[in-house]
Amino acid sequence: MSATVLVGSQWGDEGKGKIVDILSERFDIVARYQGGANAGHTVIIGDKQYILHLIPSGILRENVICVIGNGVVIDPKALLEEINLLKNSGIKVEGRLFISQNAHLIMPYHKLLDSIEESGENKIGTTGRGIGPCYIDKFGRRGIRIVDLLNRDELERKIRYNLKEKNQLLQKVYHHEGLNVEEILKEYLEFDKVIDKYIKDIPTFLNQALDEGKSILLEGAQGTLLDVDHGTYPFVTSSSPTAGGACTGTGIPPNRINYVIGIVKAYTTRVGNGPFPTELTEEEGDKLRTLGAEFGATTGRPRRCGWFDAFLVAYSKMINGIDSVAVTKLDVLSHFDKIKVCVGYELNGKKLKYFPSSVEQLSKVTPIYEVLDGWKQNISNCKSYDELPSRTKEYLNFISKQSGIKIDIISVGAKRQQTIFL
Ligand code: GDP
Ligand code: IMO
Ligand code: MG
Repeated sequence: MSATVLVGSQWGDEGKGKIVDILSERFDIVARYQGGANAGHTVIIGDKQYILHLIPSGILRENVICVIGNGVVIDPKALLEEINLLKNSGIKVEGRLFISQNAHLIMPYHKLLDSIEESGENKIGTTGRGIGPCYIDKFGRRGIRIVDLLNRDELERKIRYNLKEKNQLLQKVYHHEGLNVEEILKEYLEFDKVIDKYIKDIPTFLNQALDEGKSILLEGAQGTLLDVDHGTYPFVTSSSPTAGGACTGTGIPPNRINYVIGIVKAYTTRVGNGPFPTELTEEEGDKLRTLGAEFGATTGRPRRCGWFDAFLVAYSKMINGIDSVAVTKLDVLSHFDKIKVCVGYELNGKKLKYFPSSVEQLSKVTPIYEVLDGWKQNISNCKSYDELPSRTKEYLNFISKQSGIKIDIISVGAKRQQTIFL
């Protein structure tokens, strides 16, 4: 009987997809608990690359059942595209994917509002997938849910009501012509026909599975510092990627979660706006971006790159209750003579005791660095911890000690076999 949460411990793109794929071999069920198609989780199997946005990365293991929890916001177009893409690759989805009745639907006006808001002054650098506006409607209690697809009259009434309101906003505030309600109705009524077979009472399903001794891996999207409560607000996403979100986002109670795995990249990246203390803006940043192929899996945007931030990861450990971590992309650091690790922040000449909650403060801190010697050897074929160069082990020991984390998994390449278990 076990439920394990896997959580991104920096600003997303830590390599969650790869590690979920590796671990899902040992789980019966993999469930996504928040976010939407803003996520891009990459899994490489043989020569084939899969980028999953909404469907859990466990779908690539044929014995695993996959679940999209109530905390996820679902764009029907993105979901159908993903289902078709998987089917075309010979992967069976029907009977293996179940979607919560309580998950909210992303509507065309959410995507439109996302892009309009991004063209204003309060630019977050979102993925443009309608995530923020959809969660606003969820918490504003006017959202449209998967369960509404089961009652056509109610669905139509809700879409008409929302469109009336949204068109007023679009026309009067944003001087946009507005959207056509009949087109949206047609699209969502069509979606209803395809999606019915996937809908399930997920809290009951997951809790019964635990009762029967089955194991569940809860796959977080985004990362801790993008959490709407605990991240670098307002430069965050609109959901709760942190471990607590796994309970509210699926209906599994906190006392049934047994373990929390954090995923950390051996350095740090961030996409979009907001403070990033260890960011490298010149040659070394370009070098990390090129060597790590740091371009967004969803939007293709270049990722901002910088050194590992142990102060930030220690904060992430606290917020999530991380039991152990997987360190990914360690191979990317093989090309550096010297590697820096941030061990704390200084602000106005004083060392900070706690991770600052104000982005104004965070954008002014000076990182305190320790400099380690690089190993300058290819490690991507190492199969065990013993095979790693001694300087690589020193680096791992250092980040582990400084962040207070226990390392259980080391990833030295994007492929399944490039994974070391400790
Ligand atoms: P996610 O959003 O956390 O699932 O991460 P992404 O898929 O957006 O980004 C991680 C990228 O790094 C993907 O292109 C992976 O294929 C790749 N990757 C994962 N682990 C490793 C690793 O250990 N080494 C290298 N070089 N690439 C990796
Ligand atoms: P995965 O799951 C990295 C970032 C966006 C932006 C902010 C808000 O692949 O790690 P949103 O569209 O969510 O309203 O954008 O969050 N962001 C991500 N950054 N990885 C992700 O997902 C992200 N999902 C959203 O770049 O800064
Ligand atoms: Mg990603």
